[in-house]
Amino acid sequence: MDVKVRAAKNVRGSVRTAGDKSVSHRYGMLAGLAEGTSEFENFSSSADCASTLACMAAMGARVEREGNRVLVTGTGGQLQKPAQPLDCGNSGSTMRMLGGVVAAQSFDSVMIGDASLSRRPMRRVIEPLSLMGAHIDSHDGCAPLTIHGAHLKGITYQPPVASAQVKSCVLLAGLFAEGETTVIEPVRTRDHTELALRAFGGQVESTGERISLRGGQKLKAIKAYVPGDLSSVTFFLCATALFSGSNILVDGVLLNPTRSVVLDVMASMGVGVNFLKVEEQFGELIGTLQAEGGIFQGGVIAGAQSAALIDELPAIASIAPYSVKGLEIRDAAELRVKECDRISACVQNLRAMGAEVEERPDGMVIPGNQKLHGAVIESFDDHRIAMAFAVSALRAEGDSTIRHAEAVAVSFPEFFEALAKVVE
Ligand code: S3P
Repeated sequence: MDVKVRAAKNVRGSVRTAGDKSVSHRYGMLAGLAEGTSEFENFSSSADCASTLACMAAMGARVEREGNRVLVTGTGGQLQKPAQPLDCGNSGSTMRMLGGVVAAQSFDSVMIGDASLSRRPMRRVIEPLSLMGAHIDSHDGCAPLTIHGAHLKGITYQPPVASAQVKSCVLLAGLFAEGETTVIEPVRTRDHTELALRAFGGQVESTGERISLRGGQKLKAIKAYVPGDLSSVTFFLCATALFSGSNILVDGVLLNPTRSVVLDVMASMGVGVNFLKVEEQFGELIGTLQAEGGIFQGGVIAGAQSAALIDELPAIASIAPYSVKGLEIRDAAELRVKECDRISACVQNLRAMGAEVEERPDGMVIPGNQKLHGAVIESFDDHRIAMAFAVSALRAEGDSTIRHAEAVAVSFPEFFEALAKVVE
């Protein structure tokens, strides 16, 4: 599907997104492992989270869904052998996190994914799971994964990459393992798994980068409202950054500090960010946010900030040419192993719009004060690339066409309707 995006004059109005993808994955998985029926309002509408729910259903959980209200009746920890391969679709989170669960079961299973997911690195989870005693066959470190369920033993593991998916995989395997499992992270990553485990009655100890749990814990169903997806809201913050005088209001959005670095960075670059209300639910912060455009400055994103902003970097890169100082992104080589090579995709699309940009192995350098023109944008079947450049196109001269724009359904199926509502 091709979608045409016209240049805009301003961005104003309110934005509401379905539940956060990262939180929904974890709630869906843990609800499938828990005893009783969990009820979720505002569950993620993403195709990725639908993959997680389908995998849990394939292993015996009962999933009922009416829009974004989802009921999951759990298995009480007694998963059934799936009759078919577990199809993770485009979702790295499903394959990596659930891989930890299925590795500890008494049955064998196969995990498959689409073409993009089948190219993504899985050794980062195969390695720790093997240290715990799992037996996993892969296609040269990639899916399909054949997982021979085994009795696992707790380990202490220091992942070589900063990855919440790897941390979560090891912790979820640890739930079923003998003894204690500890993950020591190189850089603190999103902590939704720790918070969700506690929400479902699990006991997890964490002191910043060091997280431990004991095996054999029982989980209990919960009732929860899933906070709106902050990574989806980022596209609207970037649209706001494009126009001084822009103003958006976002209600019910996730404000977890391990995710909200994007708000600090946007604020430091000139976007006015105000919190109108903040509440807590199961350890997750949720609130109302108001953002207004000023003069977008740009700057440098590097180190731990790059890791914390990994999903938001394409959107920020896509608007960087319009900034005053330009943008340098360093220490973000992980972008190359996401749904597509996001460094190369950003560079190609920026150049298609007439921008000057330097590609680096771990990032890019984008000078500021540039004028871009509308262009044919390739999504590379990557949701975040499609949405990032739909935003960039708002400030370009002339229309743009986003090719394979249907990719947005992977995280935010309502994206183009939501954008149309706020664009003037
Ligand atoms: C996610 C972790 C990140 C992120 C992904 C979602 C999660 O991946 O890019 O979109 O929900 O844990 P990595 O763990 O590979 O950094």
